[in-house]
Amino acid sequence: MNQPFSTVKTEHLIGQTILHFDTIDSTNEECKRRAKGRECNGLIILADEQTKGKGRQGRSFQSLANCGLYLSVLLYPDSGLTELSQITTWTAVAVSNAVFRATGVTPAIKWPNDLVLHGKKLCGILTELGADENTGELFLVIGIGINLHQTAADFGPELSPIATSLAQEGIQIRSDVLSDHLIHELNEMYRKFPHQKGEYLSQFRARCLTLNREVTLIHASQQESAFAIDIDDNFGLVVRKTDGSTDTITSGEVSVRGVYGYT
Ligand code: BTN
Repeated sequence: MNQPFSTVKTEHLIGQTILHFDTIDSTNEECKRRAKGRECNGLIILADEQTKGKGRQGRSFQSLANCGLYLSVLLYPDSGLTELSQITTWTAVAVSNAVFRATGVTPAIKWPNDLVLHGKKLCGILTELGADENTGELFLVIGIGINLHQTAADFGPELSPIATSLAQEGIQIRSDVLSDHLIHELNEMYRKFPHQKGEYLSQFRARCLTLNREVTLIHASQQESAFAIDIDDNFGLVVRKTDGSTDTITSGEVSVRGVYGYT
């Protein structure tokens, strides 16, 4: 039986209980299985390896043993759905802050929420909503995967052109050191959510490498060229299309790619 190692890291909400597994299917799935009432609010699930790591839009997330930081947090939020739809972008800022505090390097953000170093993906974030099976209450799972030690060979031919790890950028960091910073930054973020949006919005805008670039919008296998001109006050990506009209992309259903590759 795969028994987690349990610790109490903090007096703050997020991380009051941390369950650390050697291996698990997905830390997001484990959070959902354990969503059994508000006493679970702030639960963190950590794993050294995921056998079915989940990415956005039904994709998988490569989660090799002892190569990355795979962490999910379970929250019972008081905010409304409109505000909650922006929490993944806030999380991107929080993760970027945590990486800076741990390493001195600030990753950029590819809209809406990939973290990027030197043009390659360092971290992905997957937020899922659910309903508590006991109480029917809405809960939120925020899952974060940060690449720490992978080599290009670990990523393989498909991922190595678009993915990087801190080690590949010359930075060696222990997973527990980074997770301590991450838990601190997640608590800061959640304490300020949603009323201190201006702070997260300005950091998001400053770090968003999608801005002022030509992008390809991909939706249901349709592709369209556009130019990213702004981030609006709800973290939407404002684009100018080839016919001169502007549009604001808010949906995670639309993928944004740079015209020259991943970013
Ligand atoms: C993406 O880039 O598409 C999102 C990737 C999210 C990966 C993290 S790793 C921890 C958590 N558990 C999962 O199964 N997925 C998220």
